Amino acid sequence: MNDETKKAAALTGAAVVFAALAVVFLTAGMRERPQHPIFLVDPVHLDTSPVRMNYDTLTDARYDTSDYDCYLCHSRAERVELQFDDVGDLILKEHDYITFAHGPARAANYCFNCHNRDRLDQFRTQYGRTLSFSQSSELCGSCHGVTYRDWVADAHGRTSGYWNLAMGDRKRLDCTQCHDPHDTRFPSLAPAPGPHSMRDRIPAQLATDGRNDDE
Ligand code: HEC
Ligand code: HEC
Ligand code: HEC
Ligand code: HEC
Repeated sequence: MNDETKKAAALTGAAVVFAALAVVFLTAGMRERPQHPIFLVDPVHLDTSPVRMNYDTLTDARYDTSDYDCYLCHSRAERVELQFDDVGDLILKEHDYITFAHGPARAANYCFNCHNRDRLDQFRTQYGRTLSFSQSSELCGSCHGVTYRDWVADAHGRTSGYWNLAMGDRKRLDCTQCHDPHDTRFPSLAPAPGPHSMRDRIPAQLATDGRNDDE
């Protein structure tokens, strides 16, 4: 065989192989494949509103903010006294609906670490700075400096809006839109279902229990 015939034979061989592959691919594509029904994700997973309403958002929405109106009930002339039990836990009277769980050691279990004893409708930081109810994030920052710096740098607390401020404002959530100041643990969220995997499994379960089928 000379070189020309060898080349022609190789090319014919390749053409036959490719034609066979084309037939395989085409017929495979035509075969019925089971299709996943495309299920709807529970709207709960698509809701981007923060987990809590704080003083500012309640006020903006014109909700009842009488809980924040301390002098509706308290007298400006009388100082509030705190009572503690034998083990040093605060005994709540009127405000017993407040769950107090601020950090694992309940280290901030003292109302006047944050509220101003002499002006109940304000906060007072450990350094004596007084702040309004709208400035609660700065109150948090007075003890949680590191997290506060992260928050200012948009690394903590889900900042949204625009990076390029020429295009629009950035939206930063207050600490109290996520953390209850008295019971700070962020509430657990139900996991959303995994992405539509295109694999031949029945995702009915996924839609209801939100579990990924790789688990
Ligand atoms: C609906 C009425 C009402 C409102 C509003 C209210 N308080 Fe009270 N608070 C009371 C009563 C009643 C007591 C128990 C009697 C007492 O110690 O003076 C109390 C007690 C307290 C105590 C002592 C701990 C306890 O629960 O016994 C603190 C601290 C306190 N209040 C802070 C505040 C602050 C701060 C505000 C505003 C953000 C506020 N309160 C708003 C009625 C109220
Ligand atoms: C770690 C700081 C901190 C401590 C300690 C603290 N609070 Fe508060 N409290 C806040 C902040 C911040 C708000 C306002 C949050 C908001 O904007 O929703 C608030 C809101 C309130 C309100 C009005 C809203 C509501 O939940 O009824 C009352 C009443 C109140 N605190 C009472 C108390 C009492 C009584 C204590 C002591 C048992 C206490 N707080 C301890 C930070 C604190
Ligand atoms: C007076 C100081 C003080 C202020 C003000 C304060 N905290 Fe704390 N916070 C503490 C301490 C102390 C702990 C417990 C830290 C520990 O035990 O490791 C704590 C714990 C926490 C934790 C839990 C951290 C963990 O590791 O579990 C969160 C979340 C938190 N604070 C959020 C807030 C928010 C939000 C505010 C503002 C409303 C706030 N704190 C205001 C002192 C403060
Ligand atoms: C968008 C919601 C969101 C906002 C806003 C937010 N946090 Fe958090 N924070 C979380 C979540 C979620 C965690 C982790 C879960 C947990 O520990 O409860 C967390 C954890 C923390 C912790 C535990 C230690 C750490 O750094 O991981 C502290 C302290 C804390 N936050 C303080 C703050 C303070 C102070 C602010 C405001 C300056 C703030 N957070 C704003 C959601 C938020």
